[in-house]
Parts: sequence; C-alpha cells; structure tokens
Amino acid sequence: MKTRAAVVYEHDAPVVVDTLTLDDPKANEVLLRMGASGVCHSDLSVVNGTIYYPPPVALGHEGAGVVERVGEDVSYVKPGDHVILSFVTYCEECVMCGMGRVCLCNGIHARKGFLLDDTCRLHNKAGQDIPQMSRIATMSDLAVVPEQALIKIDPEYPMDRAALVGCGVTTGVGAVLRTAQVEPGSTVAVIGSGGVGLNVLQGAKLADAERIIAVDLVERKLDFARQFGATDTVNASEVDPVEAVKELTGGLGVDYAFEAIGSSVTIRQAFDMVRSAGTAVAIGLARSHDVVPIPPQELIWSEKKLIGSYYGSSRPREDMPEYLRLYDEGKLMLDELITKTYDLDQINEAFADMEAGKNARGILALDL
Ligand SMILES: NC(=O)c1ccc[n+]([C@@H]2O[C@H](COP(=O)([O-])OP(=O)(O)OC[C@H]3O[C@@H](n4cnc5c(N)ncnc54)[C@H](O)[C@@H]3O)[C@@H](O)[C@H]2O)c1
Ligand SMILES: [Zn+2]
Ligand SMILES: [Zn+2]
Repeated sequence: MKTRAAVVYEHDAPVVVDTLTLDDPKANEVLLRMGASGVCHSDLSVVNGTIYYPPPVALGHEGAGVVERVGEDVSYVKPGDHVILSFVTYCEECVMCGMGRVCLCNGIHARKGFLLDDTCRLHNKAGQDIPQMSRIATMSDLAVVPEQALIKIDPEYPMDRAALVGCGVTTGVGAVLRTAQVEPGSTVAVIGSGGVGLNVLQGAKLADAERIIAVDLVERKLDFARQFGATDTVNASEVDPVEAVKELTGGLGVDYAFEAIGSSVTIRQAFDMVRSAGTAVAIGLARSHDVVPIPPQELIWSEKKLIGSYYGSSRPREDMPEYLRLYDEGKLMLDELITKTYDLDQINEAFADMEAGKNARGILALDL
C-alpha cells in the first residue's frame, strides 16, 4: 500500500513529503491510520542531526491514530481501537523493564529506526528502505508499528489532544511527578517554555509547587507560561536567569530546576539556580558532543544533584490514560497547548514557526 510521509533525506535541508510504499504488518505489528502528530523539537533535532539518524528517516514521534489492521499474534488491540504511540518501544522482559523503568529498556536489539525484526516497512520509489524515527514515524497517513508501542485510549478523545500526550505532556509532567517527585510547597524553575517546558510548568502546578518560575527568551512564550501555571517569569534575553531566579528566592535558589531546551549552557544554568541539596533536571536533548562543565568541588560542597529525565520516567500504558483522565477533570490543559494546526505538506512551515517561537505546540492534522 502507499502512504505519504515526512522524510529527512538530508540533514539541515527541507523535509520532503514523499509517497512511500508501506508493507503489511508482520507478526506483533499493527497498521494505523494516523490521526494527528505533534511537532516536537526532537523532530527538528532529527532534521538537523542533533538526534542522529543517518538519512533517510521518516519523522514523527508524538502521535495518535486508529488501528486499521493487525498482524499475526497481536492481542493488545483490534481494528477500530484508538491509540497513542509511545516513542520508546520496550520489551517488558529485561532487567530495566522488570524494575518498572520501561523507558530505559535495554532488551531490544534491532537497529535504531528499524522494526523489531531489524527490517523496514517503508520504502521509497527507488526501493530504498526508510527507517522510522523512534520506530513509529507518526508524520505519515499510515504507519506500521510494533504492538508494544501502543497505548489504548477511549475513542472519545480528539486525536490532536491525544497526540500531545505521546511526547510533550508525558515528558514534561512526568519529569516533575515521576523523575523529580517534586513535593508540595516546593520552589521550581523551568528553563524553556516550549511544548515540553509548558508541561513541566503544569506538572509543577499539579504537584502543588508554591513558586513556579518560567525562563524563556521570547515574551510570547512567557505569556503561555503564565497560562500554564508560572507564578513568575524571567526573560533571559534581558537579565541573567541565574541571578534573577536567586533574587526571586531570597538569594537561596530553587528546590528544583528543569531544563527543557537542549544545551549545556542552560543545563548549567539549571544546576546553578538550585539551592544546596537541590535537584537540577535535564530534559532537553543537546548535541552528542555537548558537555556540561560541573566543578567537582562545587558538586560536593553544595550536594546538588543533576539528573536526566527520559520520557518523564514514564510507564506509558499507566501514565497516558491517567493524563487523559486529569484532562477530563480539568486539571491538565491540552486544548491550550495547540496554537496552530498544519497539513502534512506544511511541515517545514511548522518547523519555522517553532524556531520563531510562535506556538505552544504545532500539530499536523492527518485524519482528525
Ligand atoms: N527528555 C526527553 O524525553 C525529551 C522528550 C521530548 C523532547 N525533549 C527535548 O526537550 C527539548 C524541548 O523541546 P520542545 O519541543 O519543548 O522545544 P521548543 O522549541 O518548543 O521549546 C524550546 C523553548 O526554549 C526557549 N529557549 C531557547 N533558548 C533559550 C535560552 N537560552 N534560554 C531560555 N529559553 C530558551 C525557546 O524560546 C522555546 O520556547 C528539546 O531538546 C527536545 O529534543 C526531550
Ligand atoms: Zn518529542
Ligand atoms: Zn526491556
């Protein structure tokens, strides 16, 4: 069968919306009709090589869709089921999965972007294999993905809202609730108010943090930040964010600082703005050669912690339905995250708008 998909053929070049051949689902695989795919900075990082996939690669990792057909031995879903996709496929059998840390699974040995039998389902006109970002490639009308990457949801949820839970919401809210386990009454700073950072902010609000300080370079982003729970904002294009955050906390620094941008400079800022024995959480994905300089003496004398957070330390099949429930209860904002909806053909415009700081999140409407 045929599908149209967003493909990176060359780093730092416009993404090509190409018509590809899609193979039938094999055993334990599912054919989806995609409803919507969010446009996350990690997609742009695949375009520019920060998150490295040798081109070509089909893009998209924040999506929701409807099951069209299932391969042999699929038991979790049936045709017609609505699903969110997980950008981590996990085995449920390895030591990390056994510890409940499924996003840190080390039991899958297929190459990055390949299906679990180490082959591809997407091919272009020239017969070239096209691997799938995160094994799912949600920026496509149709997708064949591993059954393990699916989270069943109630069909009542609009596809675009559900798609957001596939990355930004789970990454941001999970970083607060699961990774850092922020206590009520805490002081929190969040550097970067993009699709992920805004969800860190609403996670901090859910955790009953008392003071929530948003840092960004763009005033429009700080407006979004206030809407998502920031009690204070700092424009880092005008002031030193570390000094500003310290000033707002009586010179002490915050209990928790989250970095949601992807640079060693801002990760270091997060480390510098937490108080002694506080915790800095790195979420943003920097280039692989980027290194955060931490002076060991300062680390010891301050007893600060610098920790990473991958996919919000989540358990997707537990956490994602829970986040949708919080949305039902009015405790989690999803509608407000979507600033603009694009067609698949407008993918390059969606990336340009992200870089210009126009959107909370942009969404590609595939079959809404
Ligand atoms: N850890 C994970 O599991 C995970 C999951 C998803 C995304 N990510 C990463 O999270 C990061 C953020 O993703 P996003 O989709 O929210 O990106 P985004 O582009 O929507 O948001 C980034 C924000 O940072 C702001 N910013 C940039 N430089 C800044 C600076 N020096 N100081 C203050 N603010 C600055 C921008 O104005 C923007 O608002 C990316 O690196 C992405 O790859 C990580
Ligand atoms: Zn993402
Ligand atoms: Zn595993």
